[in-house]
Amino acid sequence: MKLLFLGSPGVGKGTYAQVLTEVLRIPQISTGDLLREEVKKETTLGKNINEIMIRGELVPDDIMIKLIKNRMSQKDCQNGFILDGFPRTLNQAEGLKDIVKIDHVLNFKANDEVIIERLSGRITCKKCSTIYHKTGNKPKKEGVCDKCGGELFERDDDKLASVKNRLDIYKKKTKPLIDYYTKEGLLVEITINKPISEIREKVITKINDYLCGKTKKIGEIN
Ligand code: AP5
Repeated sequence: MKLLFLGSPGVGKGTYAQVLTEVLRIPQISTGDLLREEVKKETTLGKNINEIMIRGELVPDDIMIKLIKNRMSQKDCQNGFILDGFPRTLNQAEGLKDIVKIDHVLNFKANDEVIIERLSGRITCKKCSTIYHKTGNKPKKEGVCDKCGGELFERDDDKLASVKNRLDIYKKKTKPLIDYYTKEGLLVEITINKPISEIREKVITKINDYLCGKTKKIGEIN
C-alpha cells in the first residue's frame, strides 16, 4: 500500500504515520527526518538545509525529488510506504508521479490555533524520532523516549516566528495539492478532534477500515 499524508505543519502527519506504520508493516518516509539526518552529518548541503529549515522555508524541489527517488529505491519500500511531508509543491507532485503510483492521499485537517498549540508542545526523540507532546501525549518519564530511551528535544523550527512562516508557505505552496489530488481521485479528508493518546485505537481502526475498503470515507474522528 502506497500512502501519502498531506496536511499543514504540525497537524499530526508524523504522529499518525508512526501509529499506522506498525499496523500496516510499511515504513514511514518523513522528508523532514531525512533532511534532519543530512543536517546532523554537517556536510555543506546539510548546513544550507539547516538554515532553510530554521527559517521555515522549503528546500529546493530538485534536492527533494532526488532525496525521495533515492529513498524509494531502497528494499524496505517494495511493499509500500507512508510518505509524510512530500510532496509540498506541484512540481514535487509531478516529480513523484514519474517515480511511483500512489494508492491513497490522506489529508489531515486542523485550524491554525490548534496547530500552534500542538507545535509549541511537541517533543521528539533524538534517536528514533518518536513524537510526543508535553501535555497531550507525554512520555512515561520526562525527557526520555518510551520506545528507545533516547533524549527528547524541541525542534528549532517550532518557535512561533518559524511556525507562522511554515503555515504561510503551506497555504501558498502546499494547499493547492488538495485540488491536485482531488482531481486525481485519490484524496480522503480526516479531522482528528481529540488528543491522539485518547483515541489511538479508534484512529487505527477507522483508517484501516477505509484502507481495506470497509468504509467509503473517514471524515471526523472524535
Ligand atoms: P517536517 O519535519 O516534515 O515538518 P512539517 O511538515 O512542518 O510537519 P511537522 O513535523 O511539523 O508536523 P506533523 O504534521 O508531522 O505533526 P506531528 O505528528 O509532529 O519538515 C520540516 C522542514 O523540512 C520543513 O519546514 C521544510 O523546511 C523541510 N522539508 C520537509 N519536507 C520538504 C519538502 N517535501 N520540500 C521542501 N522542504 C521540505 O504532531 C505535532 C504535535 O502535535 C506533536 O507534539 C503531537 O504529539 C501532537 N499531536 C498530533 N496529533 C494530535 C492530536 N490529535 N491532538 C493533540 N495533539 C496532537
